[in-house]
Amino acid sequence: MTIIDGKQVSSDLKAELKAEVAELSARLNAVPGLTVIIVGEDPASQVYVRNKAKSCVETGMRSTVIELPASTPQEELLSKIGELNDDPEVHGILVQQPLPPHIEEYAVTMAISPSKDVDGFHPENVGQMVLGNLDKGYISCTPYGILELLSRYNIETKGKHCVVVGRSNIVGKPMANLMLQKLKETNCTVTVCHSATANMPELTRQADILVVAIGRANFVTREMVKPGAVVLDVGMNRVEDPTRKSGFRLTGDVDFGPVSEIASAITPVPGGVGPMTIAMLLKNTLQSFRRARGIES
Ligand code: GUN
Repeated sequence: MTIIDGKQVSSDLKAELKAEVAELSARLNAVPGLTVIIVGEDPASQVYVRNKAKSCVETGMRSTVIELPASTPQEELLSKIGELNDDPEVHGILVQQPLPPHIEEYAVTMAISPSKDVDGFHPENVGQMVLGNLDKGYISCTPYGILELLSRYNIETKGKHCVVVGRSNIVGKPMANLMLQKLKETNCTVTVCHSATANMPELTRQADILVVAIGRANFVTREMVKPGAVVLDVGMNRVEDPTRKSGFRLTGDVDFGPVSEIASAITPVPGGVGPMTIAMLLKNTLQSFRRARGIES
C-alpha cells in the first residue's frame, strides 16, 4: 500500500517552480505576482491565506494580501478587483471563500478577469476545461493537484472507473470533468455521487479511483471501498480533540485507518491533497505571467 505524500510532491513542485521563476525573472526583469483578498476573519481562511502567501514568497513570486473587514460592501470589493484586473504587475487574483453572506460569490467570480483567475472559477475557464482546452484556461487548483499526484505516482487511469463523491463547483464538478478527458492522467469512466445519491456504497465499491470531497469527517468507511482502489481524500474537517492545544484536529472524509488496509494507494489528511492546492495555485500564477508575456510553456 502506498501513502501518497502530497507534502513531498508539493515541495518538489514548488522547487521546480522556483527554478522557473528565477530563470524567467532574470531574463525578463519582472516577477509573477499573486494578490489574495480575504474578507472578514474566518480563522481557517486566515491560515489558508497565510500559507498561500508564504509559499508564493518561497518560490520567488510577489505576494500581496489585501485584508478587508467583514462589513466591506460588495461594490467596494468589486471595485478593488477592477483595479487589480488593470494592474499589469498582478498576474493572479484570488478572493478567498467563504465570503460574508451579503457578498454574492457569483458577482465576485464574474468580476475577476478570466486571464487572472488562477482559481479557475470563472465560467470562461470552467468552459475551456470542460471542452478539454487545458492549454487555454486555468484549472481549479484542487482537482489539478489531484491530477498531478496521479501523474507523479504513475497511477494508471485509462479505462478505469473513477467515482467522485461530492459535486461542488470547486472540486467535485471539475474533478469529474477532468477524469473524463482524453488525457494521460485521466481517460476514465466517471460516476458522480452526492447527498441525494441512492445506495452510495454500491457505487463507491465499484471505484478503481475514488475521489472524496463531501466535507464530512470519516464519511467513507472500509465497506464502501473496493480492495486495491486508489483513494484521494479532499476532506479537511475540524473535529474536536481536547488532547490538542488548538482543541481540534484535521480529519479527512475517509476513515483512513481501516481504508488504508485495503487501498492500493491513499492520501492522508493532512499532507495529501491539501498541500497540492497551493502548489497548483502557484503554477497557475506562473502560467498567467508567461501568457501575459507571450511565452508559451
Ligand atoms: N476556500 C477554500 N478553498 C479555496 C480555493 O481553492 N479558492 C478560494 N478562492 N477560496 C477557497
